[in-house]
Amino acid sequence: ARNIDLAVIPGDGIGQEVVAQGLKVLSAVLPQDVKLETRQYDLGARRWHETGETLPDAELERLKEHDAILLGAIGDPSVPSGVLERGLLLKLRFAFDHYVNLRPSKLFPNTATPLEGRPDIDFVVVREGTEGPYVGNGGSLRTGTPAEVATEVSLNTAYGVERVVRDAYERAKARPRRKLTLVHKNNVLVHAGHLWKNLFDQVGREYPEVTTDYLHVDAATIFFVTDPARFDVIVTDNLFGDILTDLAAAVTGGIGLAASGNINPTGDFPSMFEPVHGSAPDIAGTGKADPTATILSVALLLRHLGHEPEATRVEDAVSADLAERPAARTTDETGDAIAVRVAG
Ligand code: IPM
Ligand code: MN
Repeated sequence: ARNIDLAVIPGDGIGQEVVAQGLKVLSAVLPQDVKLETRQYDLGARRWHETGETLPDAELERLKEHDAILLGAIGDPSVPSGVLERGLLLKLRFAFDHYVNLRPSKLFPNTATPLEGRPDIDFVVVREGTEGPYVGNGGSLRTGTPAEVATEVSLNTAYGVERVVRDAYERAKARPRRKLTLVHKNNVLVHAGHLWKNLFDQVGREYPEVTTDYLHVDAATIFFVTDPARFDVIVTDNLFGDILTDLAAAVTGGIGLAASGNINPTGDFPSMFEPVHGSAPDIAGTGKADPTATILSVALLLRHLGHEPEATRVEDAVSADLAERPAARTTDETGDAIAVRVAG
């Protein structure tokens, strides 16, 4: 039995509530002989207010020792924008080299979609997680004056692009449709765009069984709405992937269902699993938060750690629950209902 030593970062707002449900389902699905050990980390707005710390080095060192991390949500209106995002969430993704930000989208039965005809949506976005415009490479001159100049320079390395593109080809190869779409904007962002396209084509020669396609990001947003069934695996830059996956969530039952994994495929560092949604301070404490995205993130966590049957059980339980889910239900009730299904 491969026991699981899990770090838990509930974080802010509804993060606390949804993580509790994720852990409930995780405990329920694991076989008796797999021991689950968890350690909670107090990180987020509260900690910052109390100590001024976002992610101290000592905590980073401790986190490194776990098999994986389950994170709820980070962010609070009482903290200046960017402090926790950069100082905690992005710091974790960068420090643990989470270069594959995996974001599956599936239109489950009985869930709301603004799209007509309930298209058969089942794709996964492989969002690059450690480079692009997220690196903080830039600056501002004459800040706050009418002559201010600000730059935000996107970093793209052949090393970084090739490894994420290769991971996406591997994922595409393992899926029935074997199709991979590169999304970029190489008609305008010519330098980074050509690096991505060249490596996409070059690596693609090693995967003759995978059908490839290229779309500019603006055109991709149209197809997300008019023909999302065309997508199987999508590989894209950090910022394009951020935007596209919110759109993907919006057309597949909403942000309450969107799961993600920040994956370090080499296993050098723990991977981190989190719902795509934020801390939703407006509904925190009301019991209205939907824990499904966190529970589906737990499925990704199980799959990553090699517990494939358990991962599938969680996904099937979510699908069955959604098919029969009553309109008004609390966070806790949803967690209970899914936990009962995975255990039964
Ligand atoms: C996400 C979030 C983060 C991102 C923010 C909170 C830094 O929007 O996980 O998609 O931009 O990656
Ligand atoms: Mn986002």
